[in-house]
Amino acid sequence: MTDTKSTPIHISGIPREKAPEPPLGTDPIIFGSRYYSTEFADKEWERMWTRVWQIAGRVDQVPDPGDYIKYDINQESIICIRSSDHKIRAFYNACQHRGNQLVSAEIGTLASGEFQCAYHGWRFSDTGECTWAYCEEDFPQGSPCGKLNLVEIPCQTWAGFIWFNMDPECTDLREWLNPVAEHLDSYHMENMKRTHWVTIEGTWNWKCVQDNFNESYHLPFVHPQTVTTMNEHYSGCQFDLYPSGHSRMLMPGGGPGPQYTGKADRTFKSLQQTFDFWDFDPEPYRNDLTGLRTALQGRKRELAESKGYDFSRYSDEQLTDHYHYTIFPNISFSMKPDGCIFLRSAPHPTDPNKCLFDMWYLTMFPHESTEYYSNSMRDWVSLDHQVEHITGLAGEVSCGPGIDQDVAIWTTQHKGLQSRGYRGEYLPTQENRIRYFHQNLDKYLAMEPT
Ligand code: FES
Ligand SMILES: [Fe+2]
Repeated sequence: MTDTKSTPIHISGIPREKAPEPPLGTDPIIFGSRYYSTEFADKEWERMWTRVWQIAGRVDQVPDPGDYIKYDINQESIICIRSSDHKIRAFYNACQHRGNQLVSAEIGTLASGEFQCAYHGWRFSDTGECTWAYCEEDFPQGSPCGKLNLVEIPCQTWAGFIWFNMDPECTDLREWLNPVAEHLDSYHMENMKRTHWVTIEGTWNWKCVQDNFNESYHLPFVHPQTVTTMNEHYSGCQFDLYPSGHSRMLMPGGGPGPQYTGKADRTFKSLQQTFDFWDFDPEPYRNDLTGLRTALQGRKRELAESKGYDFSRYSDEQLTDHYHYTIFPNISFSMKPDGCIFLRSAPHPTDPNKCLFDMWYLTMFPHESTEYYSNSMRDWVSLDHQVEHITGLAGEVSCGPGIDQDVAIWTTQHKGLQSRGYRGEYLPTQENRIRYFHQNLDKYLAMEPT
C-alpha cells in the first residue's frame, strides 16, 4: 500500500513518529489585512523578522578569508564575511560614520583585505574593527578607530547554509531548528551544491507562499500531474506541527496512491526519467500501481552504489517519498535522496503586496561526478562553478514547471484576499500547518518590538 500510516518505522533514517497535535481551534484568524496592510507588515518587521534566524547564502560562496556575500531582507542589508581567522561573521551593511552601505555587490572579495567606505574612506577590518579614518585627529569625541566598529550580529552555519539573526539574544541556531536539524543531518546538505538559483519578484504577500507550502490540498488542482506519481491525498500523508513552530509533511512518492483511477501510462510517462535512470521496468505493476513505490525503493537500494550514491543512512521511504519541512517563518526544504528544493519567501522592502521568492536546487552529486544530468531538475548541472543567479519578475522568469504553477496562483489569491467579500479562512484539518503558522506569527506580534 502507498500509505505512510501503514508503513513500518525503520530503524535507520529520519524518525517518522507523528508529533502530538496542538489544539488549534477553528474560528477564522487569517483575514485579508494580514496580507496587504502596511501597518501589519511593519509589525512583522519590528517584532518577528528581527528575531528569527534567516539564511544569507551558502558556505561555499565564501571559501577564503575576505570573501563575502550580501543578503538584503526588507529594508535591511547584511554582510556575511569569511574573516582572516576563518570564522564567518555577519555585520549590518552600514558604515559607522554616516551610514553609507559598505558593499553593493551580492558576492565579492575584499580587494585590500578591508572594507573601505566609498563616501569618506573609513576602513574596517574583516572582523569589523574600524582601522582608519580620514583626519582621525579632527574628532572631538576621540578617534573612531577601534571604537566605531561595524555592528556584528549572530551568525552560524548549518547544512552548508550561512544563517544570521538580528536579535543579539537569540537562541542557538540548532536549538531553534529543533527537530529539523537532527532530522535533516543525514542528507549532508553541506556536501550538496546549489545548481539552480532563481529569485522572482511577484505581486503577492510573502505569506501567500508560506501558506501554499504548508498544505498539499491544492495539488490535484494546481498540479494535476502530481496525482499520477504521488499519494497526495491526506489519508496517505502525515503532517507534524513541532513546538518550535516548524512543521513537516510526509507524502508517499514513487507512484500514485490507492485512490488514483487514471491510466498506468500516465504514471509511467511522468516517472519515465526516474525509471530510465534506475533501469527499472514498471510493466509488472501496470495493474497495481501502488506496488511501484516499494519496488522502486528496492531498485534504488540495489543500484545506489553503482550509480555513485550512498543511501545507507536513508530509510526506504526516503528513497521515494516527499519529506517536506517548513521552517518558521519562511523557508521550506523539500528533500529528495539526491538533492533538496529550497524555497523561500521574503517581504518586499516597501510594499506588502509584493514578495521576493527564491527557488534553489541543491544537488548531491554522485561519487566522483562533476557533471551529471539531474533527474529532478531535468537539466545538466556542474559541480565546478557557482551557478548564475537568475532574477526577474514573476511570469518572465521560470522556477521550473511545478513551481511556476504555484506562482500563477499566488497572484490571483493575493487579489482575492483584498476583496471585501473574503471573510477569513475555512480550513480542513489537512491545512492545519497554515493555521499553526499564523498562530506562531501572532505570538511574535504580541511581543515588544526589538
Ligand atoms: S559614510 Fe562611510 S566614511 Fe562617511
Ligand atoms: Fe504547489
